Amino acid sequence: MAFSGFAPLDTRLAVTRFREFSSKISHPLVLVLLSDLHGTLYGQKQELLLAVVRRQSPDLILMAGDMADPKVPLENFLVLLDGLRGIAPSFYVSGNHEQWTRDMLRLERLFGARGATVLKGFGVSLTARGERLFICGVDDPHAFVHSHHSLALPPEWKKQFYACCSAAASHPEDYRILLSHRPEPVSFYQNSGFDLVASGHAHGGQIRLPICPGGLFAPHQGFFPRYAGGQYRLGSTSLIVSRGLCLNRLPRIFNPPEVAVIELLPADSGREKL
Ligand SMILES: [Fe+2]
Repeated sequence: MAFSGFAPLDTRLAVTRFREFSSKISHPLVLVLLSDLHGTLYGQKQELLLAVVRRQSPDLILMAGDMADPKVPLENFLVLLDGLRGIAPSFYVSGNHEQWTRDMLRLERLFGARGATVLKGFGVSLTARGERLFICGVDDPHAFVHSHHSLALPPEWKKQFYACCSAAASHPEDYRILLSHRPEPVSFYQNSGFDLVASGHAHGGQIRLPICPGGLFAPHQGFFPRYAGGQYRLGSTSLIVSRGLCLNRLPRIFNPPEVAVIELLPADSGREKL
């Protein structure tokens, strides 16, 4: 990882904290959301990134896709998985760059063998610190579309998404999370029954200036993207978009790579703070 001390090009890892309040949560939980690593290496064997994640003492780790990149050694992501394994259970969905390898079966086996739960159109129930969670995930739409430039959501993606909604509907008491690489299909996410959707893909809009504080450009959203990074309310569903960790592609300007930390808190603690 190249370090830039020049603030606009600062490549040091930033920790962004988000808070979500829910009546389904009795005791606070910490989720770490990682996205769009694109195989970027943070120190030997990812030690810098792992140290940041470890410091958050997460209960769960969510990975929102494009963690590996066919142009970068796969080992860079695999060593991260090896390190995360000793920190907390991790969950993974694919991104477009991983899907473009057309080698997902092998990748999923490798990721699963290193401890990540690969989600693709289904969910899993779990208990963390006594809290009941239901975590679903969908593949990137490019699992089903070969063109790199297609904007339309294919029916197979919608089928995965609705399968997740249906599964989540049978766990109404659980805090329900959807992991999906793409942030922009908000019309699907809004009031979907999920309490939280966690995404990436937009890389924070790449360039963040006063004229475009939400970012200049994001794939599948275009210029001045609305969902490039941050926390968005979509009716009863909250969307959190990580700005991602990629330093291998276009330069990031006023947009340092991000480890997103999501605190799930009891609803009562939210009211106290209003
Ligand atoms: Fe992506």
